[in-house]
Amino acid sequence: MKAEKFKSPFKGRSLLNWIDWKREEIEWILDKAFLVKKQSHNGEVHQRFLGKTIALIFEKRSTRTRSSFETAFGEEGGHPVFMSTDDIQLGGKESVEDTARVLGRMFSAIEFRGFKQEHVELLAKHSGIPVINGLTDSFHPTQVLADIMTLKEQFGTLKGLSVCFCGDGRNNMARSLMLICAKFGINFSIFAPKELSPDEEIIKICTPFAKESGASITISDEISVVKGADCLYTDVWVSMGEETLKDERTKLLQPYQVNRELMAATGKSSTIFLHCLPAVKGQEVTEEVFESNASRVFDQAENRKHTIKAIMLALI
Ligand code: CP
Ligand code: NVA
Repeated sequence: MKAEKFKSPFKGRSLLNWIDWKREEIEWILDKAFLVKKQSHNGEVHQRFLGKTIALIFEKRSTRTRSSFETAFGEEGGHPVFMSTDDIQLGGKESVEDTARVLGRMFSAIEFRGFKQEHVELLAKHSGIPVINGLTDSFHPTQVLADIMTLKEQFGTLKGLSVCFCGDGRNNMARSLMLICAKFGINFSIFAPKELSPDEEIIKICTPFAKESGASITISDEISVVKGADCLYTDVWVSMGEETLKDERTKLLQPYQVNRELMAATGKSSTIFLHCLPAVKGQEVTEEVFESNASRVFDQAENRKHTIKAIMLALI
């Protein structure tokens, strides 16, 4: 069997976050995500990863990200190898740098899901192969590509839309959404208590991109901030690794739950609901909104696979 060629100007590059990617470059990958989705729905079989291998390192749990990487890579003829921290020595007995150098001799690419952003950066620096961030405490770049794909499917366009993130405004999702919305001209707001406002550093990074694209960035603890939103987005109140903060967060974030009243407060009947999942229903979102006609969470989850396939095709 002969491997199919897939032309991409980004071969060999890593995706650690979207900061150093231009809007047109992200759009190029997004277009490919729409292409592979169509091919998949048409039942086409391609072998674009034939002869390739990817190491999938997971320090944290995953359903969607792992399934997307494994199925998207495997069905195109590639060989994914899953490694949890119970399997490898990463950062413990063996340094991240040494692990990177070994994997770089054996694999075509690495996916890393873990705690420290610094670790995914070290893997990229020392492995010599493309590294894809499958979530760290700081960023979740593959998720937000699926999110903008879902918005584009829904609204036909991205520029000028308004997305409001409700809940823990400091977390990896809030930060990553702020960044991608700023690049694409999507007005982005965060409805969060002051204690959980995003830090200055991420706002400083995103502000020039927002200026260039014409997007706004608004942070507020007042409900009026959701007015006019085309999408209310939320995420768990307690991210992986923060389990001890559960009681404190539950108390603090109750007024920021996405429920029927908050959806109505946008003043638009067309507002959709998105969530990266997994969801804790009854906390950040009510069962009613989650199951409502406004909810696009399973289209969004499916789009994880198509966008991850497109990212791998572009980089590997
Ligand atoms: N949204 C997301 O990353 O899901 P998983 O944690 O299941 O991978
Ligand atoms: N903020 C969440 C996202 C899960 C996809 C976490 O880091 O656990």
